[in-house]
Amino acid sequence: MSTTRFLTGITPSGTPHLGNYAGAIRPAVAASRTPGMESFYFLADYHALIKCQDPARVHRSTLEIAASWLACGLNPENVVFYRQSDVPAIPELNWFLTCVTGKGALNRAHAYKASQDKNAEAGRELDDGVTAGLFMYPVLMAADILIFNAHKVPVGRDQIQHIEMARDIASSFNHLYGEHFVLPEAAIEENVATLPGLDGRKMSKSYDNTIPLFAPRNELKKLISSIVTDSRAPGEPKATEGSALFQLYQAFATDTETAAMRQAFANGIGWGDAKQMLFERIDAELSPMRERYEDLMAHPEKVEAALQIGAERARALAGPFLQKLRSAVGLRSLASQDAGPQKVKATKVALPSFKQYRESDGKFYFKFLAADGRMLLQSTGFDQPKLAGQCIGQLQKQGAPALATLASHLVMQDGVIKTDVEQALQLLQDAG
Ligand code: TRP
Repeated sequence: MSTTRFLTGITPSGTPHLGNYAGAIRPAVAASRTPGMESFYFLADYHALIKCQDPARVHRSTLEIAASWLACGLNPENVVFYRQSDVPAIPELNWFLTCVTGKGALNRAHAYKASQDKNAEAGRELDDGVTAGLFMYPVLMAADILIFNAHKVPVGRDQIQHIEMARDIASSFNHLYGEHFVLPEAAIEENVATLPGLDGRKMSKSYDNTIPLFAPRNELKKLISSIVTDSRAPGEPKATEGSALFQLYQAFATDTETAAMRQAFANGIGWGDAKQMLFERIDAELSPMRERYEDLMAHPEKVEAALQIGAERARALAGPFLQKLRSAVGLRSLASQDAGPQKVKATKVALPSFKQYRESDGKFYFKFLAADGRMLLQSTGFDQPKLAGQCIGQLQKQGAPALATLASHLVMQDGVIKTDVEQALQLLQDAG
């Protein structure tokens, strides 16, 4: 059995925050250390262009995200860690897939429909501000996955529909051109933490409530002290339920530490003290990584070198696979006689043929049919099948000259001229 291949993409359009760390980076780095699985992690920089048309930001974010993953312990020797735009086979496959994807399926994609709904609400034209890139995004995502024939794709729930579309697109391609693609499945992590942000809502760039993963120590402290709490005074018991502070603590603490904090809440710990404990706990986990991160940010060439190791490995897999796919769709050298992996039989030239049969008069006959099935000759009746067979043998061996010697046994068909018959016999002889 082959190993299960995992693949996931990270869109570099912002600065990684604690939510990204707990929800994606930390579990992925842990999983990458599991033996017997093959992991692909990539920076989806072509995807970033859909959301972000600020070149400096795309460039900066690519560096920050790559440096973050490396600082958090991703080992580029154990996983294939690359930048999407370093693998030219991906955009080329994107086009092949575009040509087998129904436009209607893309009309129904959630991300596109959400943009349309927003426009409808604002009374604008439905496609206002929607680029073709946003519309085509699920196809590019399918190309990301299918180029490596990944089995499992760890994603958030919001991405499940995209994985289903990738399966549909893979099936359409396979149906047309042969079984080239594995049908990928979404791998949804059920017990991965979703962190609350500073305001208590889910931590997300779009709510502007994030804590940057590698904020310097003093900034981290300041941000943590701004987490919303209720107005209970020190000494008053506090609810852990619905407390952003408690949930954040839990995401970084051991079970014992969490139990102790729960007790402290019940005992009426002051918010200032609780925030100090949260800060110390998070900082303890992050500070060794922060040091590595700062070093990588100061030496971007180290990050680039790590990505180039991945790019080479990715291209070594994707390049030859794309060659096969090009050939499968009919894009291949004209000098090569290779008719491709498929439909070889279908293109074999049809030949004229003899058909033997017996009539109701009890006699044995044969007909000579052209390649297209038209009847060219019919025999007279023979008393024995063997005699009919001998006659056929003579025609096959001698070709046209036999027509004269056997004339008394052959009946020319209406509308058929002698040259037709001679040519057909010649074709048979040429084919051996
Ligand atoms: N669309 C994903 C996101 O926004 C990122 C992504 C791009 C991705 N290509 C992918 C994820 C392929 C998994 C597989 O989170």
